[in-house]
Amino acid sequence: MYLTKEEERILEGHEGVVRQRALEIVVKVGEVLGAERLIKVTKAHVSGISYKNIGDAGLELIEELFTSKGAFSVPTSLNPAGMDLKLWKFMNLPRTYVEKQNRIINCLRSMGAEPLLTCIPYLIEPPSFGEQVAWGESNAILYANSVLGARTNREGGPLALFEGIVGRAPYVDLRTDESRKPTICVICELRKDSKLSQLPGLIGFHIGSTVKSGVPYIKGVEHFLKDNYDLRLFLAGIGTAGGIGLALIDKISPEAPKSLPENVETVKIDEIELRESYEKLSIDLDDVDAVVLGCPHMSDRELHSVINVIKSKGRSRRRIIVFLPRSLNDSLSLVKLRKYNLEVYNDTCMVVCDLRAMGVERVVVDSAKAAYYLSSQGYSVRLMSLNEILRWAFT
Ligand code: F3S
Repeated sequence: MYLTKEEERILEGHEGVVRQRALEIVVKVGEVLGAERLIKVTKAHVSGISYKNIGDAGLELIEELFTSKGAFSVPTSLNPAGMDLKLWKFMNLPRTYVEKQNRIINCLRSMGAEPLLTCIPYLIEPPSFGEQVAWGESNAILYANSVLGARTNREGGPLALFEGIVGRAPYVDLRTDESRKPTICVICELRKDSKLSQLPGLIGFHIGSTVKSGVPYIKGVEHFLKDNYDLRLFLAGIGTAGGIGLALIDKISPEAPKSLPENVETVKIDEIELRESYEKLSIDLDDVDAVVLGCPHMSDRELHSVINVIKSKGRSRRRIIVFLPRSLNDSLSLVKLRKYNLEVYNDTCMVVCDLRAMGVERVVVDSAKAAYYLSSQGYSVRLMSLNEILRWAFT
């Protein structure tokens, strides 16, 4: 791989052991992927920072980087952690868990990371069109590439961390013009009045599991994506089911072609196949412990429209738990919301915190991504649309 003089200096250890080690890893990954050079990135977003997920091994790695004087060289944000940093007492977590999660955040903060602790950094500090960033977290990657036209590969959590330290990433795949062209066309033939088409996350999940990799050009979904929330659910669904990092969505993506590309395979998705995907993600539940919303995280505006619906109907009969970024909402009183049977948490999410410790085993969600990961953690999960949930929660 071609390296600049500055990169060679880093590899020789002139800029410290952590930068040296980080660059060694980035170069190795680049060589495996066939990159001929590295490219500077302007931002990083690091996932995999929940103590529940990374455990003692992850904590040790992060502490070692910190004690060896590691630091981020570009603005670096963080994905959700394993607890709400202020309301962890309401989450019934053991003291050791809380202490170790705090150590992870404190080390990363001291290395210069901004603890946004959210998976929607693109709504808070969006990269611009063509900007090269190093992002972990599949829904954020898909949003950055597909909606904003920024450029990132699907960097796993540790790789985004090392790329944030050296400010460079392998110049390969979705970072290059050639790899951002459609490799397959997906035509959505769902009826607008079908019940399953009210689940944008499910449509995305189905496309992700059908296509699996490459760059799909997707036509006919715009009717089912009414707002930004739907779009995020849709992209999160795509990212959950396969390795896709860029989806060119007709009428939404700035890089989507104006017409169906020639010489590219076309697949159609219909109601029957969508039902099969639904049945993989959702089971009928006689009883549920909670409705859990915010995967990807909700925005403050979305939360307030949920609160308005709830307030207009009185106290919900079902416990409703919502996750969103603290930087968008740090002022709601949990105590006040509890009278509506609503709980709002920041800094964490339903998948990387411990819902069981919160007394939740059977859940209703509106997100295919949440349905997939919670089912794989042994929870009983039912998938419903947000509108349907907000009606059903009062019955
Ligand atoms: Fe975000 Fe957690 Fe879902 S990180 S996309 S809320 S699994």
